[in-house]
Amino acid sequence: MISQEVYCVAPPSTTMPNSSQVAPESPGSATGGHRPPHVERQPTLNSLQKLRSLHRRTSLDVSHSEAVQEACKPLELSDDNLRTIMDRMEKSYQKGLSKEGAPTAAVKMLPSFVRSVPNGSENGNFLALDLGGTNFRVLLIRIDNTECEMTSKIFRVPESIMRGSGTKLFDHIAECLAKFIEEHDLVNKEKLPLGFTFSFPCQQYGLTCAKLVNWTKGFKCSGVEGNDVVQMLREACHRRGDIDIDVVAVLNDTTGTMMACAFKENSCNIGVICGTGSNACYMERLDRIPKIEGECNPAEDGLPAEMCVNTEWGGFGDDGALSEFFTEFDKILDEATINKGHQLFEKMVSGMYLGEIVRIILEHLAREGHLFGGDVDAIAQRGCFPTKFLSEIEGVYRFHPTFPAALDKKIDELLDENIEFQLMLSEDGSGRGAALVAAVATRMKQESAAHQLKMQNLKI
Ligand code: GLC
Repeated sequence: MISQEVYCVAPPSTTMPNSSQVAPESPGSATGGHRPPHVERQPTLNSLQKLRSLHRRTSLDVSHSEAVQEACKPLELSDDNLRTIMDRMEKSYQKGLSKEGAPTAAVKMLPSFVRSVPNGSENGNFLALDLGGTNFRVLLIRIDNTECEMTSKIFRVPESIMRGSGTKLFDHIAECLAKFIEEHDLVNKEKLPLGFTFSFPCQQYGLTCAKLVNWTKGFKCSGVEGNDVVQMLREACHRRGDIDIDVVAVLNDTTGTMMACAFKENSCNIGVICGTGSNACYMERLDRIPKIEGECNPAEDGLPAEMCVNTEWGGFGDDGALSEFFTEFDKILDEATINKGHQLFEKMVSGMYLGEIVRIILEHLAREGHLFGGDVDAIAQRGCFPTKFLSEIEGVYRFHPTFPAALDKKIDELLDENIEFQLMLSEDGSGRGAALVAAVATRMKQESAAHQLKMQNLKI
């Protein structure tokens, strides 16, 4: 599948506006950082102090370094391992795209109904909603061919809402939207087209109908799975009675990211999110998506014979495809999550879980007497080591001086020689992307109408 030329890598703008690729801000940070229930908790002052004192002790204690390295061995992946994983991922993709395999596929390969990246002729003012983590954003975006200007406001999604009823969640979204509309003097003005980035796995039945398959990333609102989130949003606005919306597109954050990069560099065909969650999308030829055979007809609609597919690769391995790479540490982590046995690949690599994995390893090493002089107390509390501690140690794509080059080199080594690629960092992709999808949808609607008129005239 990796035949596209340009990749883009996106930091998770929804949940962590100023944060790094893999490392969410600490809970309650000024940017309203990530706070997954059950996995990461705000460390108490006490546990922070303890961790600091442990750190001082550890730096003196080098005699156990071999044992530490030994314990961490299962986490190392050779190039051969990576190739095996790539092969299996590609097989999982094929299964998810096929008619027979799709219903039970671990990697869902969800059609997005986005048929084209921006071509530079998009124009207009758009509203965008961006929900994918503990923050929710409303944006007002002006697109003028190659320029894109935006104003946005971040609202927090409290944990009680993340785990409450779906109706409450959508009422909260509608309330934030109403506030934004009022603050930006948009009440009783022309109804702006709205793009909704909803960063959870959705089965789409068109550009404006998306049924949530299952929650991920610590969300668990009742009554949403299996329902159309666009409809739920419309109903919430209707209940308020003071706002009227025109949803023209619903999309995943990966799609938004790809679109935002493609706006700058038209050949961008892949979007990757390394954030609270991890996921990727790419433009696929329609004839390679057998499960939607016959649903789109480029000859009739005049649109390109391709579609953006949201892979939902976070679920890779849920069918056992990663079993020999799933370490004891990963198992301990998975046990304590609210969606045990699901999103296994995501749990191995994404920002929501990395801090906890490190904590589990440190706890193990302390219990074995190799770290902290065997004192496990400070590190034994679940969630006491947030991912941001890791990013301060490790650095990230945006700020680390050598990480981008190392990533580039590794991809180059693993890919076929004849495939060229270029990584590009997406700034604020999921919000901007919602407006861009809305803009492309509006343009394509017009183009499609013109095409159909032409066809009718030809028939006459
Ligand atoms: C989770 C969601 C997916 C989203 C990703 C990044 O994996 O299931 O839809 O794209 O997180 O936010």
